[in-house]
Amino acid sequence: MSLIVVILAAGKGTRMRSQLPKVMHEVGGKSMLSHTITTAKSLGAEKVIVVYGHGGEQVKESINDDIVEWVEQAEQLGTGHAVQQAIPNFTPQDNESVMVLYGDVPLVKTKTLQKLLDVQKKDSMCILTTKLDDPSGYGRIVRNHKGYIQKIVEEKDADDLTKSISEINTGILCASSNHLTKWLGEITNDNQQQEYYLTDCIGLAVKQGKTVDAVVCPDSSEVMGVNSRANLAEVEKIYQSRLSQELMMRGVTLRDPDSLYIEGNIEVEHDIVIEPNVVLRGDVKLSKNVFVSANCVIIDSIIATGSIIHPNTVIEGASIGENCEIGPFARVRPDAELAKEVKVGNFVEVKKSTLAEGAKVNHLSYIGDASIGKKTNIGAGTICCNYDGATKHKTIIGDNVFIGSDTQLVAPVKIEDGATIGAGSTITKDVPQDKLTLSRSKQITIENWRRPQKK
Ligand code: UD1
Ligand code: CA
Repeated sequence: MSLIVVILAAGKGTRMRSQLPKVMHEVGGKSMLSHTITTAKSLGAEKVIVVYGHGGEQVKESINDDIVEWVEQAEQLGTGHAVQQAIPNFTPQDNESVMVLYGDVPLVKTKTLQKLLDVQKKDSMCILTTKLDDPSGYGRIVRNHKGYIQKIVEEKDADDLTKSISEINTGILCASSNHLTKWLGEITNDNQQQEYYLTDCIGLAVKQGKTVDAVVCPDSSEVMGVNSRANLAEVEKIYQSRLSQELMMRGVTLRDPDSLYIEGNIEVEHDIVIEPNVVLRGDVKLSKNVFVSANCVIIDSIIATGSIIHPNTVIEGASIGENCEIGPFARVRPDAELAKEVKVGNFVEVKKSTLAEGAKVNHLSYIGDASIGKKTNIGAGTICCNYDGATKHKTIIGDNVFIGSDTQLVAPVKIEDGATIGAGSTITKDVPQDKLTLSRSKQITIENWRRPQKK
């Protein structure tokens, strides 16, 4: 059986109170709609048809995927009407299922939907239901005394007895494309809301002698829809907790799983420890025995085995070698490449620079557009003056160099292997190897000098 997925995404989302179309709000750094599209693809859908309405152009531009076809529902006349808009995009046939998913229900698992496809009879449909302690607001699943589904009744059309049913319609269903097309042609808007209900197809199928099957989703959080920012926060929390569980299963210790925030693709090895309030964003790879302390943000970076990231460190677009120590309060920026056993200490900023094995920049420095050799020690407060107001220039520092504290290296400049620079120097010319170079005047004491006094 081939599969077509129709994603409903035309609703306005008034309660979000947002300029942004509802389905573009993000969960784990990706729009809710893109989550649903990813799920549709994971089911092996041949075609994914998104029914859009409000904020159409913006929604379309946000998704760049050849599998997606766009269909406009200019007026929102109901879920049945919405699915009707997609019909011209496929040729109804026997060996094909249509599954209806939602752009504002991002957490549903592939595994759950696969069950739906497995259960659905070729000439009928299967719906996804769940049971809620408080079912108010949802369409209720009406079954007969043998347990067979009869119809779905919307809250607004329900009598008290029907309202007491706790099994509700999640909205997700799959059906034979042939039959669904026919049923959709027969529904009317003769109801309280004067809408074309997709759910009326169930009653029609039963009337025509079909058995409508259901998969009951045991975890109702999976089918939670987002209508408000509060819902969005709840969904985000569930999503994050799934990611945390996954990391722990792969051998990562999370001191506080609730406070880790992940947005992207995280690759991990075993025996990593992550302390509270850490953000991992983009493509991040953490190798084994990496320790990430509290309040760190790591973006698009690789951290090799055994490295320790001390608290309040921000690392972006960088590659950190084995057994390095970074922070606390360090900022490692794009194109920083650290070999093994490098130390970057507190209030140190590193940008577009390479630090060779064993190099140390322990305090209060700016290393930009520089290359630093093996075992070189950069004293506190050293600044690479890389920018002349127009162009960036390079600072090249050799192996075993010792740079005294509070040195300014005015680039372009080269410091040869083994050189020592006296503290407080402003270095504007290349420095030879194995010698002491300094640029300050000799210390003098002025005799008979008096501090100015107030008169
Ligand atoms: C629908 C179901 C209800 C189910 C509930 C689950 C119907 C008639 N009712 O109710 O049984 O319990 O979902 O949340 O289907 N949409 C469009 N175009 C439209 C109308 C809706 O794209 O014309 C989209 C919305 O953006 C939303 C989804 O379809 O993503 C559901 O619409 P909504 O109005 O929230 O449906 P409910 O009345 O809550
Ligand atoms: Ca709704």
